[in-house]
Amino acid sequence: MQTVKVALGARSYSIEIGSGLLSTVGKRCQNLGLGKRCAIITDRRVGPLYAKKAAASLKQAGFETNIITVAAGEKAKSLSVVGQCYDQLAACRLERKSFVVALGGGVVGDLAGFVAASYLRGIPFVQVPTTLLAQVDSSVGGKTGINLKAGKNLVGAFYQPRLVLCDLDTLRTLPSREYRAGLAEIIKYGIIYDAALFDRIERDMTLLLKKHPRTLAEVVARCCEIKADVVGQDETESGLRAILNFGHTIGHAIEAISGYGKFLHGEAISIGQVAAAKISAEQSGLSEEDVARITQLFKRAGLPTKIKLSSAQRAKLFAAMKVDKKVSAGEIKFVLARKIGRVDFGQKVSADSINRALDA
Ligand code: NAD
Ligand code: GLY
Repeated sequence: MQTVKVALGARSYSIEIGSGLLSTVGKRCQNLGLGKRCAIITDRRVGPLYAKKAAASLKQAGFETNIITVAAGEKAKSLSVVGQCYDQLAACRLERKSFVVALGGGVVGDLAGFVAASYLRGIPFVQVPTTLLAQVDSSVGGKTGINLKAGKNLVGAFYQPRLVLCDLDTLRTLPSREYRAGLAEIIKYGIIYDAALFDRIERDMTLLLKKHPRTLAEVVARCCEIKADVVGQDETESGLRAILNFGHTIGHAIEAISGYGKFLHGEAISIGQVAAAKISAEQSGLSEEDVARITQLFKRAGLPTKIKLSSAQRAKLFAAMKVDKKVSAGEIKFVLARKIGRVDFGQKVSADSINRALDA
């Protein structure tokens, strides 16, 4: 097992990464001194696979455990599902010292985290991420939230979990398309922060695709270390944390215009990262060789690297980019790479440049 610390003063916590961790969730919550009552929030796909094991561990450790199951998929990140969760927490008589366990992918983590952040003005929560994307990204760093019709993640809170438990065994049941979508975030960490990690992903892509246990554990742990490092320096995204959004400006807009669900988040940001790399070559000195390496790595992960858009769809894409949270004073800001492992945030990019990158 590997442990990564997120250093945030009184809100610091550990990320545990390894095999067989799900059955230890009860003991670990006991070690944190959490209250006696808890609710596992999970979804209809993950619940039948893992909720029983998690609940047994929590019960064995003496916790009164309830299970709340929501629909699987992005639609669960809605105000109405938040309301249903509040009602169920109240029915289970959860109190200030009680806690929530988010058992699932990024959707469950974002939803359950937001419910925990707001119920009784905030109760503790523990992340048990079961997708690769959630293990390397969404469960770490305290961004929680839900979607509005107007856009993704427009309502939320920065609210840190008390613990993140990444049981790599849960990835065995993850559909391969979802697993590959998680690789998009892993490649992102190499581009934004760590050229050696990028080299390793190039070298070990075949092992990663096979979910080779040691390779996976080391790579997941390195991604968590990078995220912990960035979040430790800039918890609420006043600067540096924005680098985690590499490829997300275009990626989120692709998700929005194609109706959430057509492209998985990881697929959309794969296209977004390749476009951002092309813009970086025009504007920030990224070499054509690095653009080619980046494009090739996403392809090897089985991810899309471009999208064909009609002019009407392109207009919608630009409109969607303008409602993104990364817009400031009406200007769309990008994260651009100087070279693999080194990026700058807050870069102005013209519409022409975005169009050229999408056409290339
Ligand atoms: P997801 O939570 O929808 O999970 C994908 C699918 O896989 C779902 O159908 C789920 O039921 C199923 N699933 C999950 N774990 C499984 C397992 N072990 N075995 C079998 N099936 C399993 O999607 P995701 O990609 O994990 O998360 C995407 C969400 O994360 C988006 O809403 C995105 O906005 C959010 N996100 C948040 C942050 C953050 O910092 N908070 C960062 C990145 C993404
Ligand atoms: N996934 C972006 C962030 O956590 O800031």
